Amino acid sequence: MTILVSGGAGFIGGNFVLDWLELQEETIVNLDKLTYAGNLDTLKGLKGNNRHVFTHGDIGDRELVGDLLSMHRPRAVINFAAESHVDRSIHGPGDFIQTNIVGTFNLLESVRGYWDGLPEGEKQAFRFLHVSTDEVYGTLSKDDAPFNELNRYEPNSPYSASKAASDHLVRAWHHTYGLPVLTTNCSNNYGPYHFPEKLIPLVILNALSGKSLPIYGDGQQIRDWLYVRDHCSAIRRVLEAGAVGETYNVGGWNEKPNLDVVHTICAILDELRPKADGGRYGDQITFVKDRPGHDRRYAIDARKLERELGWKPRETFETGIRKTIEWYLQNQDWVRNVTSGAYREWVGKQYEVEL
Ligand code: NAD
Ligand code: DAU
Repeated sequence: MTILVSGGAGFIGGNFVLDWLELQEETIVNLDKLTYAGNLDTLKGLKGNNRHVFTHGDIGDRELVGDLLSMHRPRAVINFAAESHVDRSIHGPGDFIQTNIVGTFNLLESVRGYWDGLPEGEKQAFRFLHVSTDEVYGTLSKDDAPFNELNRYEPNSPYSASKAASDHLVRAWHHTYGLPVLTTNCSNNYGPYHFPEKLIPLVILNALSGKSLPIYGDGQQIRDWLYVRDHCSAIRRVLEAGAVGETYNVGGWNEKPNLDVVHTICAILDELRPKADGGRYGDQITFVKDRPGHDRRYAIDARKLERELGWKPRETFETGIRKTIEWYLQNQDWVRNVTSGAYREWVGKQYEVEL
């Protein structure tokens, strides 16, 4: 059997592909456009693995996707492909509309055409799993209950609005055409292969190279952190046992203010890689201009997934963040590769401080 994964050269998709090929017997067809966020280096350990079929291409290319589907006849499609960085969506929302909305629409249409033509048994068993975010629910204040699956969609950034639109398209393709869909809405992930435009890898790498650690605004914004491999196990569980048409929130019950996260990283680095001059990494923290429209707090109520499908995260923030830092210390080649020219251009555009 085969599954088709889109965006499997990115952070979460890449971790998913690596885990899947280790844990399952099935083949993965991996369709990725290799934008700045897609990195074949993440998949280099799969060279020679005949259960991994990589195709360079766009989810919006109906001819290509149609050909892949009819050639490989997957029993499921998992859509990780997206433009994923909130700050980039503020600088330039166009790519987010194109991939996250128009791309998802085209992918749904390709999949619908394929699914329509399947024999009855395969048609019933087929699943389209759409990977989405908690950001579609908007922002919480300090005393609000965590987001559950019944919360209203109130997206605040171009990124979250584009993801919300894609979730609605997926929902509509189920209600109107009967496509057997599943949607997951997950909180902030961290772990290996995370592109260093995001807070946690940015802070680890800047700390190690003696640069500023930029904190937006007062640093008291709260995110709910989940180790990426726990997200991958949740997706596998939903694919296996989720009820068609349902959405599942995925989260780690690890709410942390950004400033605490950064201090934790600095303390672990002080221990694992003490500075030669006896200084502290925390001294590199710099408060910078806030993100426009910055959501104050995200928190996920993941009880439906636990109650109905028996899923629980394995890592606490404390175990996961240590593993993550150790991974970055041990994988400097991967880091060097992704922090090349295009990355430096982004950092120059986004930050007024010298990084
Ligand atoms: P990422 O930016 O690291 O990777 C995205 C991948 O998609 C890249 O490999 C890129 O090349 C590929 N891609 C982009 N546009 C494409 C297109 N048009 N066609 C084919 N491939 C394309 O993103 P990520 O952090 O791995 O996120 C994966 C998914 O999970 C996204 O849908 C994101 O919204 C969602 N999500 C992310 C987080 C998080 O904390 N990172 C949390 C919840 C949900
Ligand atoms: O909640 C899930 C979302 O988490 C995903 O849907 C997104 O794809 C993913 O990028 C992530 O979005 P965030 O905006 O929360 O992640 P980011 O790492 O960009 O920022 C985390 C927090 O840290 C946020 O409050 C902004 C802040 N921040 C970020 C950067 C890059 C800083 O203070 N300084 C920084 O330099």
